[in-house]
This record gives sequence, structure tokens and C-alpha cells, in this order.
Amino acid sequence: MIIGIPREIKDHEYRVSSTPACVEQLTEGGHAVLIQEGAGVGTGISDHEFEEAGATIVRDAKSVFDRAELIVKVKEPLPAEYGLFREGQALFTFLHLAADRALTEFLLKKKIWAIGYETLEADDGSLPILVPMSEIAGRMAVQIGAYYLESQNAGKGILLSGVPGVRHGEVVIIGGGIVGANAARIARAMGARVTLIDKNANRLKELDDRFGGDVTTLTPLKKNIATSVAKADLLIGAVLVAGGRAPKVVSGEMIRSMEGGSVVVDVAVDQGGCFETTRPTTHSEPVYEVDEVIHYAVTNIPGAVARTSTFALTNATLPYLSEIADSGFGPAVLQSEALQKGVNTLKGHLTHPLVAEAFGLNHRAVKTLLA
Ligand SMILES: NC(=O)c1ccc[n+]([C@@H]2O[C@H](COP(=O)([O-])OP(=O)(O)OC[C@H]3O[C@@H](n4cnc5c(N)ncnc54)[C@H](O)[C@@H]3O)[C@@H](O)[C@H]2O)c1
Repeated sequence: MIIGIPREIKDHEYRVSSTPACVEQLTEGGHAVLIQEGAGVGTGISDHEFEEAGATIVRDAKSVFDRAELIVKVKEPLPAEYGLFREGQALFTFLHLAADRALTEFLLKKKIWAIGYETLEADDGSLPILVPMSEIAGRMAVQIGAYYLESQNAGKGILLSGVPGVRHGEVVIIGGGIVGANAARIARAMGARVTLIDKNANRLKELDDRFGGDVTTLTPLKKNIATSVAKADLLIGAVLVAGGRAPKVVSGEMIRSMEGGSVVVDVAVDQGGCFETTRPTTHSEPVYEVDEVIHYAVTNIPGAVARTSTFALTNATLPYLSEIADSGFGPAVLQSEALQKGVNTLKGHLTHPLVAEAFGLNHRAVKTLLA
């Protein structure tokens, strides 16, 4: 198979969708890998390293898209990239379609065979490609929040650890999955008081055990959320219904109840955000204020630690990428339930039920379309 790796063009996105070690494995398996010149520079990987691993370096994105059967990216295609795709081309990348109608319509119109990293689901229900990026985003959410709480950044001037004689910072995290648990871990390590809210009772028990009762766990009753949000210095949004649009768990009124200079980091922004006041931001302009509360809602947080993120991401994608390259897109998807759940659009049809639900559209079963 001819695999194409373009350079990422999203704002301050420094990751690349393959490493030299991945390229080597693919080329040794008999596949051709085309990489756009400079695609690895943001991660610290030179064209020469990719070439040594067996890749062919091509001058521009068009040369990648024109020749590749499968495009492998990190972030969702942006409008500037739409024109590069060929009808019926295969795509393997983060998509987050439930929050992006324009991209959904484009993929349907161009009949792209698209697998979204974020909906690819293993037998145990975990999301193996989203997990490493969620670990990173969860850990970063706390350091980002701590930074914006500083006085010179318009924050309320709170040190999360407090000091003897002065209170600790209050961190409230809604959604206790991968992002939430990793945020809690860092916030605890920094000495903050942490409250974790999740709708899954078993998950709350697991988190209570994991943190030895050091973290307050609560169910998402409206009263629990309202009381917790009102006292938070740093509020982190981390809920997910895989593939679907994020539920709005915090209202504008709750945000208004927070003290001025508090910070909210809505990590779930890639699925539309779980606070009513969330709108997507970029690394170039990461924050805005609503009712004096600082909002951070960057949709590609892990891009800021590109080296860690690229290696973590490609560790997770390579086994699935190898399956697709070795067997061909259709056969690989038919053989693997995990890949099937990852397929969002195929042959001009939506195949993910929650993406379809987000836009009031119909969906078709992957197996039927490939039969
Ligand atoms: N902005 C970024 O750069 C970035 C990076 C990585 C991940 N993310 C996003 O972060 C979000 C969380 O990802 P994750 O991997 O932690 O997901 P996860 O599935 O591991 O965890 C989500 C948790 O939310 C809980 N939940 C769902 N609905 C809820 C509700 N109404 N109230 C309370 N809890 C609820 C679930 O029980 C689950 O424990 C996703 O949208 C993911 O795409 C964003």
C-alpha cells in the first residue's frame, strides 16, 4: 500500500503521524511511505532520518495526496486541505466529527473512507488511540490552569499548593476517565484539593481506591456540580460519550458563580465542549474571558508537547495502521471490530451512530457497505 504522511497545518500543531521506527516497520512489510518535506521538523525528526528508515520525501502536500492510497494524519483535515483529497481516498486520523459539520459534509461528498482515531474501540471498551493523547491533555490541563491562575496572566493569583497558613487551591474535574484521572494525579501531586465528578459509579469507586480517598468523588447531580464549580479555582472539563457531541454539564449561570480570575480548561472542546460558555481556541490565542472567568479551550493541547505526543500517538496507531496496510482497508476493517468502530464515513455514508445523531442524519452499518 502507498501511505501518505502530510505535514500538519493546524495552528501550532507540531506532531507528525509517524516516526522513523514506524516507517521502517511499514517499508520492511513491503509498503511505500511518502512523507512531505519537513513533516517531522516540529517533533525534531529530520527528513534524513525518515529517508534512512525507507520513506520517500516529497516536496509538497499535493504530491502526498496525489499518490497515496491511505492518508495518515494527526489532526482532522482543515478546509485548506479539502481540495487535496481524491474521491474515495482512505484517511486515518483524529476526526471529532460530531463537533464539525463542515468536515462531515466534505467527507461524505468526497466519499472518503475515514477512520477516526477517537472512536476506534478495543474489545474491553477502551479507546486505545485516544488514551495516550488524553493522558497528555489531562496532565497538561493542570499545568495550563496553574499558569493562567497567576496574577500577571489575569488569574486570581492562587498557587495550587497553597503554603502553610494559606489555603490550597481547589481543582474540580468533571469526567473521571483518562483525562480526568490524569489531571487529578497532577493536581494532587501539586498539592491542590481535588474534586472528581463522574456519572459512572464503578469509575468513582476505582478512583476513590486509586487516590486512597485523597480526592473527593461526587456524582453529577446538578447540585453537586453547582456547589463544586462555585468554589473552584480551576475547573477542568473532561466528559466524553465516545463519538458523540459532549453533553453540556456546566451552565453559564454556574460559570457566573465562580470568582473573577478563576480558570476553566475545557479539554472536551474537541467534541464540542462540556461547558455552556466554551468555544474552541488555538495555541496562538488560547484564552478568552466570560464573566471574568478565564476560559482555555485549545482543541489540540498535546501538539504543544509534540515530541512526547508523537511517540505516544504512533505507539498506539502503528498496530492498526499495519493491519490496514497489510490486509487492505476493506478486509482489515471487516476482520477487526475495533477498526469497524473507528470508521466514521464510508462510500458517501455516515457509519457512526452518534455522529449521525449529532446532525439528525441516518447512518449505515460498515459491514453492509463493505459486503
Ligand atoms: N483538547 C484536546 O487537545 C484533547 C486531547 C485529548 C483528549 N481530549 C478530549 O477529552 C475528552 C475526555 O476524554 P477521555 O479520554 O478522558 O474520555 P473517557 O471516556 O476516558 O472519560 C470520559 C468520562 O466522562 C464520563 N462522563 C460522560 N458523560 C458524563 C456526564 N454527563 N457527567 C459526568 N461524567 C460523564 C464518563 O463516565 C467517563 O468516565 C474527550 O472529548 C477527548 O476527545 C481533548
